[in-house]
Amino acid sequence: MSFPDGFIVHEHDVLVIGAGGAGLRAAIEASGAGVTVGVICKSLLGKAHTVMAEGGMAAAMGNVDDRDNWEVHFADTMRGGQYLNNPIMAEHHAKESPDRVRELESWGAVFDRTKEGKILQRNFGGHRYPRLAHVGDRTGLELIRTLQDHGIHQGMEVFMEMTVVSLLKSGGRIAGVLGYDRERGRMHVWKAKAVILATGGIGKSFRITSNSWEGTGDGHSLAYHAGAELMDMEFVQFHPTGMVWPPSVRGILVTEGVRGEGGVLRNSEGKRFMFDDVPDAYRAQVATTEDEGWKYVCGDKNANRPPELLTRDHVARCINREIKAGRGSPHGGVFLDIAWIKEKIPNASAHIQRKLPSMYHQFKQLAGVDITTERMEVGPTTHYVMGGVAVDGDTQESCVPGLFAAGEVTAGLHGANRLGGNSLSDLVVFGKLAGEHAAKFAKANRAVEVDPAQINEHTQEIEKVFDRPTGENPFAIQYALQDAMQDLVGIVRTEKEMELALVKIEELKKRYKNVGITGHREYNPGWHTSIDLNCMLTVSESITRSALERKESRGAQFRDDYPDKSAECSTFNLLAKKAPDGTMEIRRRPVVAMRPDLKAIIEKMK
Ligand code: FUM
Repeated sequence: MSFPDGFIVHEHDVLVIGAGGAGLRAAIEASGAGVTVGVICKSLLGKAHTVMAEGGMAAAMGNVDDRDNWEVHFADTMRGGQYLNNPIMAEHHAKESPDRVRELESWGAVFDRTKEGKILQRNFGGHRYPRLAHVGDRTGLELIRTLQDHGIHQGMEVFMEMTVVSLLKSGGRIAGVLGYDRERGRMHVWKAKAVILATGGIGKSFRITSNSWEGTGDGHSLAYHAGAELMDMEFVQFHPTGMVWPPSVRGILVTEGVRGEGGVLRNSEGKRFMFDDVPDAYRAQVATTEDEGWKYVCGDKNANRPPELLTRDHVARCINREIKAGRGSPHGGVFLDIAWIKEKIPNASAHIQRKLPSMYHQFKQLAGVDITTERMEVGPTTHYVMGGVAVDGDTQESCVPGLFAAGEVTAGLHGANRLGGNSLSDLVVFGKLAGEHAAKFAKANRAVEVDPAQINEHTQEIEKVFDRPTGENPFAIQYALQDAMQDLVGIVRTEKEMELALVKIEELKKRYKNVGITGHREYNPGWHTSIDLNCMLTVSESITRSALERKESRGAQFRDDYPDKSAECSTFNLLAKKAPDGTMEIRRRPVVAMRPDLKAIIEKMK
């Protein structure tokens, strides 16, 4: 069969899908290795969810507290992930992130400084010592700016506003990808020897999210439909603090940096409710008085952290509890108060504006709230998925030869829950590894031909919606899915509700087969949504099926019907795979065994 007409064809050794922190770092590494590199962005270059990791990048540099080192970071990450993490990835991450921070600095990132001129590090939930290198509350933005500025000179070819609809394979190996440009609706084929998925997260499957419109789980879905396995999909992180008011900005992130700088959570009675519920595993590390918590924020090494800096899953559940108990704020959240520090320090207003400039402007401009004098209203928001493509911990390659993944689209590093700030370091540590190994793969393997039949099949699939102008409205299906996931597979889960969610997802899948679009292919949001929906349905099904299969509460998954951890469930990760008949299979795989030397580190830290 000859190549179909009307397609714009590109060819690269390594193709990176996604241009957030992981994608850009991977592209820089692969270019540096001397292979040709293409980078596909769903949006404009520089617009990525990476910017929503505001408060900092975790790296055990020990600049603020010299007791910190990679072993403590490793142990914190494993404990945060409740030991379902891949220890090899956690080791790479803890050992390599300081170098990645220094590298960013050498490429032009302007980090905040200590008095001695070292890179400043701040406190964040679950990290034993101040560990987050930061740029005010715009760290993700600075990371993207730096990688973009550096990357653009490395000779990579960038394609903006493109959606990838499928991965093309030949003889079981990656051969390229099929996509279209959102502006004109023209079809493109990118031939590639290796493909790196760096597409970020899935937040748009939920009604309330910090994710922007691009976060529809494209890479998760592309990998799944190409035969890769999705691991740990039950673990979705609800960041405790998103904006709740006004409705148009509901879900936008309020950085954990606010709490790192001394912000406290209060209910409608003015009570700091986080003191009421400290998990046993952390009790010895949590302040018992407000005074002690403040001392910790000020850098007193003998003080323990305030309870607002417990892990995100726990803080989100406590907030949820207060709201459900009728002790919430007027618009359905709780209060986050940083203004109170004026009782403690002079010039608090200027201090807050210097440390948290984005939060100051965000609340002032979007909600009419001055955070230097008033309390913020905040509530949990779907922020991050720990689950993703199962990869080899050293190379980032999936089970599909030539298909690599890095960043949020990948599973393994964070286990059952991610510590704040571990995402930015994840992006650059594993972006680098993925770029290095994809380039090696591309050098070691010749290109394989793309199959015109596959291209035709996938193209027809996304075009047939135009034959049904009176079909189902894709936006109606999207909203119904977001409601089902938010209400039935959210912070607190039960079997009954998740079974109902599955019924709804199956109904929506049927309705999806009848989606219809009017108009033409040029900048048609309905058409884009019809394509995104396929990803969102796949991802939602994998989350729900995995969450049902894990009959316990661990990390980000809290089940009201199984409120405790189960010893049996601590032994496996769950993998979702497309069966030959097209249904989704969930299987258990033993967690990656920890080397004795790594085990010894965990024991020592306990
Ligand atoms: O709260 C934050 O600044 C988010 C950071 C992260 O998700 O790592």
